[in-house]
Order: sequence, then C-alpha cells, then structure tokens
Amino acid sequence: MTVTDRKLPVVILISGTGSNMCRLAELMQTGELPIEIRAVISDRADAKGLVTASGMGIKTESLNPKAFAQRSEFDAALAKKVSSYEPELVILAGFMRILDSQFVSRFTDRMLNIHPSLLPRYPGLHTHQRALDAGDEVHGASVHFVTPELDGGPVVIQARVPVLKDDSAESLAERVLQQEHHIYPLAVQLFAEGRLRLRSGKVWLDDRELNAPLQVMNGKTP
Ligand code: GAR
Repeated sequence: MTVTDRKLPVVILISGTGSNMCRLAELMQTGELPIEIRAVISDRADAKGLVTASGMGIKTESLNPKAFAQRSEFDAALAKKVSSYEPELVILAGFMRILDSQFVSRFTDRMLNIHPSLLPRYPGLHTHQRALDAGDEVHGASVHFVTPELDGGPVVIQARVPVLKDDSAESLAERVLQQEHHIYPLAVQLFAEGRLRLRSGKVWLDDRELNAPLQVMNGKTP
C-alpha cells in the first residue's frame, strides 16, 4: 500500500469483536492506510472491539438502543453522534443493526459495509451455515456501499473462499474472516485515495464504471 499525505476522516461502527476494525486501525497506525479513525462507536457497551480500540488510543463511544422508545429515535441519535465527528466515510464493521433509510440517506455514497457472503447470495444472518446447507463449493465475503436495502447496495470487492469437505460453519467463518481483513482495507484504501466512488447508484473505480465487483481468490487479485 502506498502512503498519501491526506488522511480521510472516518468513523467505524461495530457491535462485537471488531477484528475488521482492528485490522483497519493497525494499517492506519503503521501508515499503510491513509485514514484517520475519529471514533469507533458501538450499539453495545460491552463490545470487545471497544476495549481493543481504546487500547489502540482511539476514541470510543456506545449508544444503547434500549434507551430509546423507537428505533427511529436511536437511528437519529446515532446519526447525530456519527456526524459530530465529520467523517467523510462511515465504515460498518460487524455492526449488527439495520439502519433506517434516513440514516442511510444522511451518509449516502459514503458508507461501506462488509458482509460474510458472496452477495447477492445470503443477505442477512447465518451466511456460513446457509452456504454449507446449499452445498456451495465457493463462499466468501463482500464489501458494498450501503443503500436502504439490507445488504443490497452495489458491491465493490469480493473475496472467494473454497468450501472444504469437512468445513463447519465455524471453520468456514474463520477462513472468510481472514479474507475480510484483506479486502476491507483494500476497499477503504481505494476510497481514501479518491479512486472509488458511488455515483448515481453505480460503483466507479478510476473514473470507470465497474461492471462487476473486484475479485480476490485466496488472497490474490486475479
Ligand atoms: C464479520 O464476519 C462481518 O462480515 C460480519 O460480522 C463479522 C464481524 O466480525 N458482518 C455482518 O454479518 C453484517 N451483516 P468482527 O467484529 O470481528 O469484525
């Protein structure tokens, strides 16, 4: 990865372990990823990733959905909190709540998510078990721009992971997660360098419309 002088201000939203967040933070701290993580925010005060982030010297916050009478009130409060950091990119990294269309439109064209499947296959939960149940030979992960449709926004990059004969959902999830740690930084770097954009609902890379997601197989871009 190359270094540019300008650091893109970002906010990362997590709900749990935060290993994707941690990978992005490590690459930021080694100077390999031109971002400035202004805050890591969670909907769970007990998210392990908050401890990891604050141990790395990154500002953390949490917002409890149960403190709000309505989902829309939580989403509005979260949007306000995120906006207060003036991010140019919002990174969803294992954030396990569905955000309403008002939230999404506030950060339109500047919000990425990582999802553990080869979208459009298996939006939603339990993706690894669903891939095993379907007998898929190849599974993987996708980074996509966020739109109001759940896991339905335009895909930027995918990692393909072969399914092994004796895989369990856990073993498959582990290998997919390793690839997530590879493709999410790539996508964030392309965005930070101004090379990746969403325009009129389409993904553009280097001023060309992307006809199909970028593909990585076994850690390599073909
Ligand atoms: C990752 O596998 C991510 O793709 C998934 O949650 C995990 C978070 O891991 N996200 C979703 O399922 C969102 N629909 P992490 O907290 O260790 O980064």
